[in-house]
Amino acid sequence: MAGQQFRKLAPPELVPMQSGGRHAPLPLAGPRYINRYLRPTVIAPDKKHTRERLIIALDVASAAEAVRLAEKLRGHVGLFKVGSQLFTAEGPVVARHLAALGEKVFLDLKFHDIPNTVRAAAREAARLGVTMLNVHASGGQKMMQAALEGSREGGSGRDRPLVLAVTVLTSLGSDELAEIGLNGGAEVAAVRLARLAQVAGLDGVVTSPREIETIRRACGPNFVVVTPGVRPATAAAHDQTRIATPEQAIRGGADYVVVGRPITAAADPVAAADVIVAEMERGGPQQAARST
Ligand code: C5P
Repeated sequence: MAGQQFRKLAPPELVPMQSGGRHAPLPLAGPRYINRYLRPTVIAPDKKHTRERLIIALDVASAAEAVRLAEKLRGHVGLFKVGSQLFTAEGPVVARHLAALGEKVFLDLKFHDIPNTVRAAAREAARLGVTMLNVHASGGQKMMQAALEGSREGGSGRDRPLVLAVTVLTSLGSDELAEIGLNGGAEVAAVRLARLAQVAGLDGVVTSPREIETIRRACGPNFVVVTPGVRPATAAAHDQTRIATPEQAIRGGADYVVVGRPITAAADPVAAADVIVAEMERGGPQQAARST
């Protein structure tokens, strides 16, 4: 971005090692307080900058590769998503590193366990300084409430991460849903789980673009909707089934869209991200126009 100065992202491998770990821990900014009444760091994205609403999935195998991608994409996207592949390969180093540099991070580990374990995991996620974390709504109301509590306990200053619930994975079609006992179809299940998440006090959901409009109607304008399964008009679907274009996702009412392979596998990831932001802009301001 013209005129904007960013601090250089050093690959984590270059950070000197300290005792007991592969990577030196980066310091988190400021003291941490345990406060039951912390607000989430962000609710609605910056309405002036559509790119703030684009989340890039850093689905790569190494911290070095993730940081190289993040270095290129800084200023072109809003958040960096660290998911199961990168976290399993490298641990929390990339999330901590990006957050310490002031980047917004979505820790997409989709926690699904007993409430006590999820609470502890959410607490640790918040301590990394991430902006968003998520759990599976099918873990139930108590588990979701535990995640919220954990995020408050680990939050820093007045902030805690946004806690989102995954409704139904965007890769699941109706046949597969029926195989796992969800016979009513994806939309019915997604809306039911979104309402459950809202009643539990969560900030929003991660859901397929096909279900955004119904969830908006059921959960109202202040419930955050993040949607993966977004593909530019010309891109391959990969293993995603319930997909939409960036324009359709924004027009339908998504606050944020998550895109992985169409950007990370592109010859020019920055150009690919800019094309997606332009497509999102055609979807209008929609939900981002509401106030935080
Ligand atoms: O490469 P692609 O754009 O399909 O990546 C989508 C990302 O969003 C992946 O990191 C995937 O784990 C994540 N995701 C998803 N469906 C959900 C929740 C998260 O595809 N319901």
